[in-house]
Amino acid sequence: MADRGPRPLVAGNWKMNGTMASLDEVRRLMEMLSGARMRCDVMICPPATLIAPMVRLVASSPIKVGGQDCHSEAKGAHTGDISAEMLSDAGCSGVIVGHSERRADHGETDSLIRDKAAAAHRAGLTAIICIGETLEEREAGRTLDVVTGQLDSVLPPSVTGDDTVLAYEPVWAIGTGLTPSLEQVAEVHGAIRARLRARLGGSQGDAVAILYGGSVKPDNAGDLMGVANVDGALVGGASLKAADFMGIIRAYE
Ligand code: PGA
Repeated sequence: MADRGPRPLVAGNWKMNGTMASLDEVRRLMEMLSGARMRCDVMICPPATLIAPMVRLVASSPIKVGGQDCHSEAKGAHTGDISAEMLSDAGCSGVIVGHSERRADHGETDSLIRDKAAAAHRAGLTAIICIGETLEEREAGRTLDVVTGQLDSVLPPSVTGDDTVLAYEPVWAIGTGLTPSLEQVAEVHGAIRARLRARLGGSQGDAVAILYGGSVKPDNAGDLMGVANVDGALVGGASLKAADFMGIIRAYE
């Protein structure tokens, strides 16, 4: 892969998986990463219960820790929610916002996601903003309209090339073992890049990393990460096992 564009990021989204015992996988990953010279950043987004112990565990390693969601406000009467400021205080450096499972399970809208991304920026976190079409939308030939429309709606005014990562995740590819063709990935990532450049200007628009997410595995990571304008991966299932996650990170060896 060419050494230009944003620094790639391989981020693991553990979703609602993992207990203290799962930190053993992180210990294994740290061993695999020690001495390796990767041309990418590595982040794990565990459930909130594991953020603090994971931050302590990875302190001496290059692994970063992120949240899976945040509230749009800094504090207040919102039972069960966690603010971006709290994630930052716990040692996170980023947070996923707008994952399709949050959109489906909690009815999150583009405007709420924009407010959450702004909250991440306010707290000094990298906002990893997810967008992507459903199968119905793809089959109707609406993929580019849907994805660029979401992009226009979810970017807060605070966005810069340094504080924002986009994750293109086709909803139908998440957890299914299905992936778009490399041509389809190139088409969508190219459209996202063009829209970012139009919105932020060439240099800031080029500085935003655009991750691909949806059934990324060790055996398809090299091909997917080699597509133009793919600057890393957002990985669900395959991030739970150190060997699998490392197999994906190795696309940037
Ligand atoms: P998957 O999930 O890798 O298990 O498909 C990706 C995601 O939801 O970010």
